[in-house]
Amino acid sequence: MAERRIFSGIQPTGRKHLGNYIGAIRQYVEGQNRGEAIYCIVDLHAITVPQDPAELRERLHDTAAILIAAGLDPERCILFRQSDVVEHTELCWLLGTVTAWGDLNRMHQFKEKAEQQRELVSAGLFFYPVLQAADVLAYRATEVPVGDDQRQHIELMRDIAERFNARFGELLVVPEGRYPEVGARIMNLQDPETRMSTTYGSEQGTVYIVEEDDAVRAKVRSAVTDSGTEVRRGPDKAGITNLIEILSVVRGVAPEEVEREFDGSGYGDFKSAVADALVQYLAPVRERYAGLRGDEAALEATLAAGAEKARVIAAETLADVRDAVGIGPARA
Ligand code: TYM
Repeated sequence: MAERRIFSGIQPTGRKHLGNYIGAIRQYVEGQNRGEAIYCIVDLHAITVPQDPAELRERLHDTAAILIAAGLDPERCILFRQSDVVEHTELCWLLGTVTAWGDLNRMHQFKEKAEQQRELVSAGLFFYPVLQAADVLAYRATEVPVGDDQRQHIELMRDIAERFNARFGELLVVPEGRYPEVGARIMNLQDPETRMSTTYGSEQGTVYIVEEDDAVRAKVRSAVTDSGTEVRRGPDKAGITNLIEILSVVRGVAPEEVEREFDGSGYGDFKSAVADALVQYLAPVRERYAGLRGDEAALEATLAAGAEKARVIAAETLADVRDAVGIGPARA
């Protein structure tokens, strides 16, 4: 096994936004240079809340095209669709038997999502974190690049792996979360106390990865700031702090450097600089996306090839797990 095996998952729901890009996708791309990288588009997670079936397939292709446009190279990583590898669901069930009900009941994201459901809070939504643990543990991944909102899910998967190993022997790898130093929590531009997300927060405050230049500029220019004048980070300056972090990531410099450069500038000039930099950052991704998205047969072929490689790894883990748990015939 490679020394470093990186695994992460992303949902094929909504339009992917700058938070996904800065918090996660950027790390996925970089992961390809650091180890064996495996990335999964998690359609089974998506259906824990109601989805329109036809739209779900569209979004899955959107997400695959965005990931490739952002720099995932199917020759250098494994990119696949979760539902193509049935081992995820089987391992989910097996891990469910070593997961504390009380732990699932404490998950913030479950509570938040449950509150938003009008008709049904599905048992699948409750089990969501167990499936997420199965995604990672099936590959014995060592590292999981994610944004800050996934911390609790990562802690839970570590606990599950430890409990499984304590009971059945050291079969699973206890993975580490990897959070970006800057940009692990990108905030909504209109409501900088709330994380940027497609499910909550205003559309005007959410910058999409695939978005026209003018719309990106307008959203950044109308970002909510504060009544002060200084371009620096601070607890009472959530809006400006967010923009500083965004510019820092986009330019690849430390946030302190951004603060130094804009020392004495007004918010208007600063916002224009952020808008320009962001447009330059996203435009090439959008252009590549446009070229990739139309060829669904090619996207499907990439996902199928990825699933084939993923299945080989996951099947090996599952064979060990089944054997250790004592289900199915004994291994010869
Ligand atoms: P999802 O699809 O909601 O988000 C994908 C990734 O984007 C990050 N992210 C953010 N980062 C910074 N600022 C934000 N505002 C922001 N919003 C989203 C998320 O942290 C995530 O890394 N449960 C996961 C999907 C998943 C998964 C996995 C992740 C399923 N199985 C296994 C890792 C490993 C989710 O809903 O991500």
